[in-house]
Amino acid sequence: MTSQFPPIRDRKMSTTGLDPIETASRDEIAALQLERLRWSLQHAYEGNPQYKAKFDAAGIHPSDLHSLSDLARFPFTTKADLRDAYPFGFFAVPESRLARIHASSGTTGKPTVVGYTKRDIENWSRLVARSIHAAGGRPGMKVHVAYGYGLFTGGLGAHYGAEALGCTVIPMSGGQTEKQVQLIRDFGPDIIMVTPSYMLAILDEFRRQGVDARRCSLRAGIFGAEPWGEAMRAEIENSFALDAVDIYGLSEVMGPGVAQECVETKDGPVIWEDHFYPEIIDPQTGAVLPDGQEGELVFTSLTKEAMPIIRYRTRDLTRLLPGTARSMRRMARITGRSDDMMIVRGVNVFPSQIEEIALACPAFTPHYQIELSRPDRMDQVAVIVECREGASEDECADSAKFLTHRIKTLIGISVAVKVQPEGSIPRSQGKATRVIDKRPKG
Ligand code: DLL
Repeated sequence: MTSQFPPIRDRKMSTTGLDPIETASRDEIAALQLERLRWSLQHAYEGNPQYKAKFDAAGIHPSDLHSLSDLARFPFTTKADLRDAYPFGFFAVPESRLARIHASSGTTGKPTVVGYTKRDIENWSRLVARSIHAAGGRPGMKVHVAYGYGLFTGGLGAHYGAEALGCTVIPMSGGQTEKQVQLIRDFGPDIIMVTPSYMLAILDEFRRQGVDARRCSLRAGIFGAEPWGEAMRAEIENSFALDAVDIYGLSEVMGPGVAQECVETKDGPVIWEDHFYPEIIDPQTGAVLPDGQEGELVFTSLTKEAMPIIRYRTRDLTRLLPGTARSMRRMARITGRSDDMMIVRGVNVFPSQIEEIALACPAFTPHYQIELSRPDRMDQVAVIVECREGASEDECADSAKFLTHRIKTLIGISVAVKVQPEGSIPRSQGKATRVIDKRPKG
């Protein structure tokens, strides 16, 4: 039997406010990773039949891990694996030990479900607290959380982390832009945690109200859940007079706070390597690539109890960079994904989810395209479909209404449906172009 708990050495924060492991030597970090990795593999193997079956099929056992590089011999885990085990098939503890469940979009109708023990929530909170600290946050500061609360990990993840650091949390959640601005003006938060695209909508609302955003109380913004670049950083920093830093994470691995950019360097998120072991692989062959080369980011959890994740293919394309402000490695900005997932106002959407619904509309042909644009700084989605020959105008209007409504209820985004005549969508010459992304990059 594995021990019930992962090897956590509880270390006190040093006087600098940093956890000592953040500035430990590479050897010390590697030793801790190896110890924890052994535990995590064993825990996954013994606690979860999916992992046992996958490891057995690959002819590998947790005891075969002698060095960190041996991890490359273990099989990958994909979103499809999680989907096939919906809802609770990847948990490695009895359901009675779960403290919380979150979920994110799956590639089809069903969401990807993730679970946490009480100890997982404590670790997550500590890592988000560490992230907020790296962004310049300190105990006693006020943190306005405008990531969505609910099944999405953004809101509650940020919330628990800010509380763990000793901050005062304003749990605003997403939406109600006018109220966001009012609360920022009235409550005077020091820090905001929100998607960068929504921060721009908040900026526009400041301007609409005739208020200079540079004079508001915010001194730091912790932005993530979607790709953004240096151009957007410059715009937000200049418009608000705050430091804008990047936070990265994904539900399957934990949620926000897997990696966090340090305010003193602003040179890419530091991966909290004492809890997550990163690899970069060639997305085609699966081979592990050396640091510095671009490929797909893969994570193995080192301390998670409820849902250990072994070599999870994030589909995010990036590079591993050496440590600067901390000893742990950084990740470069995400340049794209090796699958077709779109992120619309922070919500993950797969074309296949839209397809499933569009193809259930009797008045439309099975050809469709999804057009993304960003007028007025807000992501807009148009689903372009074709009217089937013989279908009446009324039938098309009914189907369009059905499509809009189903997408809103099942996926959670508002779309406009554009109905065009049959044959107007270009037919595929191989791989169909489903998504036309007209949003500005960076
Ligand atoms: O987006 C968790 C999160 C919440 C991160 C709040 C940061 C802040 P998911 O909904 O599972 O989890 O989506 C994960 O979002 O694989 C990336 O493709 C993308 N993503 C997350 N953070 C960043 C970032 C949350 N800083 C997926 N830059 C990931 C670029 C990001 N993409």
